[in-house]
Amino acid sequence: MPLLPAFDLLVMQDVVRDAGYVELPCNWLQAQENTLDPIHVEWLHCHFTNYVMEKMDRPDMMRRRIPHAKIGFDVFPYGVIKRRVLEGASEEDDAWTVGHYALFPNYLRVGSEGNRIGGFQIRVPMDDTHTAHWYYNCYPVKPGEAQQRPEDIPMFRVPVPAPNEEGYIPWETLDSAGGQDIVAWYTQGPVADRTIENLGRSDRGIILWRRLLEENIRKIEHGLDPMNVFRDPATNVYHEFATERSRIQQSNASIDTSVRYSPLQAARREAAKSSPRVALLIKDEDVRGLAPMAECVESP
Ligand SMILES: [Fe+2]
Repeated sequence: MPLLPAFDLLVMQDVVRDAGYVELPCNWLQAQENTLDPIHVEWLHCHFTNYVMEKMDRPDMMRRRIPHAKIGFDVFPYGVIKRRVLEGASEEDDAWTVGHYALFPNYLRVGSEGNRIGGFQIRVPMDDTHTAHWYYNCYPVKPGEAQQRPEDIPMFRVPVPAPNEEGYIPWETLDSAGGQDIVAWYTQGPVADRTIENLGRSDRGIILWRRLLEENIRKIEHGLDPMNVFRDPATNVYHEFATERSRIQQSNASIDTSVRYSPLQAARREAAKSSPRVALLIKDEDVRGLAPMAECVESP
């Protein structure tokens, strides 16, 4: 039986966790391939967001679209590191030097936006046309807050933005990256028809991911374990996936789908209103170097 991978957020101590769930009416690979397409942030989460905000008469929620000057992808032992340079930034910036991660075969590692230490989006195929999609997030423990027991980790449902009686998907369900992503995934159809796609230069990450999938399928065919299957505790070492700080304007953004429906986060937002001195934003130094569980060994 394989071991639970010692990915940082799965085994980190002294954090508060929650988990959201949405059942996607489409194949899992549509969500995962989206992870390998950095440019979609520019168009779906900036340009389209601004269209939605225009429809909602919320110009204060508009974002500045910063074009990508460069994207890069590196295979590493756990999947692919995605890198980007936005116009006005440089290769010295952590969006290039650090990047963030697609973990093979079905994880996205998201970073420390807002008060979140980090999160995983995990896409588990239920069958060819349905996917159990999990938003697993970790947050810092606040002063005075009790240690969270595993049985107290809240689970919450995330709705699929769906057409209303008039056949339109309500704008309010499309005002955050999470809702936009869900719609972008499932409107490709239950299984996207790749025979009519036209991949371009910005799809290099998707092409690379498909090669990784092919390689690992061949491994399984030859009786070998694919990437990220761990059976020996000695090799299942703690691995920290430090992520870039977001360069996409977030300050006025809507509360994202991944946390909007979380009872834990709703309670924390309420508490913050009555305790304005409690800082909700965390800093890089709060995120990195959090202690792994005692039985895990620090990765070199
Ligand atoms: Fe997205």
